[in-house]
Amino acid sequence: MGIKGPKGTHDIIFNDINKWHKIESKLTELMKLYDYSEIRTPIFESTELFLRGVGDTTDIVDKEMYTFLDKGNRSITLRPEGTASVARAFIEHSGYNEVLPSKFYYIGPMFRYSRPQTGRYRQFHQFGVEVIGSINPYLDGEVLELMMNIFTSLGINNLNLEINSVGCPVCRPIHKENLKNYLKNNYNDLCPTCQTRYEKNPLRIFDCKNEKCQEIISKGPLITDHLCNDCNEHFDKVKNYLNMTNVEYTINKKMVRGLDYYTKTAFEITAGREGAQSSIGGGGRYDGLIEELGGPSLPGIGFAIGLERVVLTMEEQGLFDNQLKTKEKVYVANVSENNLDAAVKLVSELRHNGILAINDIMSRKLKAQFKYANKIDADYVITVGDDEIKNNIYPLKNMNTGEQIFCNINELIINLRGV
Ligand code: HAM
Repeated sequence: MGIKGPKGTHDIIFNDINKWHKIESKLTELMKLYDYSEIRTPIFESTELFLRGVGDTTDIVDKEMYTFLDKGNRSITLRPEGTASVARAFIEHSGYNEVLPSKFYYIGPMFRYSRPQTGRYRQFHQFGVEVIGSINPYLDGEVLELMMNIFTSLGINNLNLEINSVGCPVCRPIHKENLKNYLKNNYNDLCPTCQTRYEKNPLRIFDCKNEKCQEIISKGPLITDHLCNDCNEHFDKVKNYLNMTNVEYTINKKMVRGLDYYTKTAFEITAGREGAQSSIGGGGRYDGLIEELGGPSLPGIGFAIGLERVVLTMEEQGLFDNQLKTKEKVYVANVSENNLDAAVKLVSELRHNGILAINDIMSRKLKAQFKYANKIDADYVITVGDDEIKNNIYPLKNMNTGEQIFCNINELIINLRGV
């Protein structure tokens, strides 16, 4: 038996790569409009970065990291997300000495060791943006508007943006205490995981799937109802920006997000797919992260989109149908082996004129070549035989309309250049 790809990984192969290219080109086009520049960081980092950055009470750090010792006995981790790496690179390259805010985007594989299922992989791809250096709530609005613009530009329907404020180091500790006081009486009814969460990070109990825990926490105090003035004003301005730019949203007061670095604005987005893996993107503010990682006290905000989930959603919504071909294809058929060299020369000339052209490299007979041209969805077929070469007149058949015209090589190029 052949060797299979590791569990939780997948190949992007055959026609599927066109789906990814379609999404990626839309993303890079939008990044230019919003003036973000690409950042490429390593796929592995020191484990400590994620312990400090993402937080050691999170599921990601607790259970899902690909961590190993390299041959020099250093603890290395395959990045489970991009924010900590971008923050590390920003600090390492003194981004704070450059003009602020710094606006980055990235596309690349991330690694999380979790149980694979539809929409959840051990190696998956994120597109993300991170903006460092501005506390302005209108930046939160801009980042949210950008994220929604990405989804709508891709044609995705049934979008549901949920936002919340998770407070700051002023109001969150007070809220934590309130929550703990409330939970104290229910402690014995919490599941063992939530009993540990009670000590370390009681807010995470909102994420528990256990029914009893859900029932208990749903009656508890909510951070959004106890924000400090600063966080309240900030949240109001974010909502104002969203209203001004016609971005629809709902407020989900129970959303806490699975990473520790969030402050103030946090958000998640779904697009009609059901179940636990329905979130196609999420993000928020992280005003303490840069300092936590040894940099100056600079705020940040960003989001990441799960590209596999975007592909799944677009497939389900029929958004790839008939849209993947970007260029018209020309197939140059040779009547017999003797005409192969002429076909090769013609194909080369067409390509040098910016025309997508191919010819037979399987030694097929003419009839089989026509069949092949149909299979690969060729838009035009040019046939090259002895007479055509002698007279410099070639039939050019439009496969979509069935129409056929005859022209010399120069005219072929002129006719096909525009397609
Ligand atoms: P996250 O919510 O952990 O946030 O991940 C963002 C998105 O990545 C999710 O909404 C989901 O679409 C996708 N995703 C996560 N895990 C998997 C998986 N195992 N398989 C497939 N897709 C997955 C972050 O990663 C933050 N760094 C986002 C951020 C950027 N916050 C601020 N800046």
